[in-house]
Amino acid sequence: MLKIEHIVKQFGKVKALDDVSIRIDRGEFFGMLGPNGAGKTTLMNIIVGYVKADSGSVSFEDKLLSTAENGTRLNFGYVPQEISLYPELSALQNLKIFGSLYGLKKNVMLKSIDEVLELVKLNDRKKDAVKNFSGGMKRRLNLAASILHKPKLLLCDEPTVGIDPQSRNAIFEMLQYLAEQNITIIYTTHHMEEAERLCSRLVIIDYGKIIAEGSLSEMVNMLDKKETIKIKKHSELKSKIKTLESMGRLIEFDLEYELIPDVKFNKMSQLFYSLEELNIPQEFIELSRSTLEDVFLNLTGRSLRD
Ligand SMILES: Nc1ncnc2c1ncn2[C@@H]1O[C@H](COP(=O)(O)OP(=O)(O)O)[C@@H](O)[C@H]1O
Ligand SMILES: [Mg+2]
Repeated sequence: MLKIEHIVKQFGKVKALDDVSIRIDRGEFFGMLGPNGAGKTTLMNIIVGYVKADSGSVSFEDKLLSTAENGTRLNFGYVPQEISLYPELSALQNLKIFGSLYGLKKNVMLKSIDEVLELVKLNDRKKDAVKNFSGGMKRRLNLAASILHKPKLLLCDEPTVGIDPQSRNAIFEMLQYLAEQNITIIYTTHHMEEAERLCSRLVIIDYGKIIAEGSLSEMVNMLDKKETIKIKKHSELKSKIKTLESMGRLIEFDLEYELIPDVKFNKMSQLFYSLEELNIPQEFIELSRSTLEDVFLNLTGRSLRD
């Protein structure tokens, strides 16, 4: 459905995108995961035509976007990273402005506005000025505005930044509902939990390059170790760090250490035996299946976390 081929984009000395190619099929919930500055927003902006690539091409349903008629982009809905609403106007007035930008006829527009307000659960607040909305409500309205014209492809650029967990969940559910309606979704995030929860397939982007592509399980299966051991920090742990370091690669986080066991532990039971010998109480030890965070760490040597 969407074919991105060899996109390069340079801003001064910064290569924001460096030969990026992606194919996305109809009906996919496709993720783009990467740390801040990876190039995700730039790629979104190139797809929707806000930014011009230095080279490479984007085509939608086998039509090159650079030469396609203007109407082709009406197949896209875009939820930008920055909320783009008029704060002084009401939710309804905002949606009417978007509706006329998409060229919707009045009765079609009003029906559609009703439907999207219902979906994002803002019907009872439609007459209120947007400036009085919470962060989550603004995000929901931003989403509503992007689907008024019933796009086939919805691009969401970090749509949950700066909102509470409840609103975040509400947005997830709305997007999952849209996906069930057979809308293709591209979702960018720097939170691996979001990508894991939502996306059927994804790419990991770092410094403008795609460093991994596939489903979550395909990516995790590329790792030598499918499990990681987490050891929560506690007062007696300090004296045991040296020994732990001899057992594998030990990575320190704020609240815990992550241990990637040495190959000499070819059985998990041996490793647990050693941890027991070290007198680390079980409640501080957690065995978990590897995550996209581990994939990223493995590929870059860095952490995705902020
Ligand atoms: N308009 C611009 N002018 C100069 N540099 C830019 C511009 N837009 C993005 N960049 C740079 O390109 C890189 C990628 O940015 P961006 O696409 O916003 O990343 P992400 O969305 O993954 O956080 C960053 O280094 C950013 O500073
Ligand atoms: Mg961005």
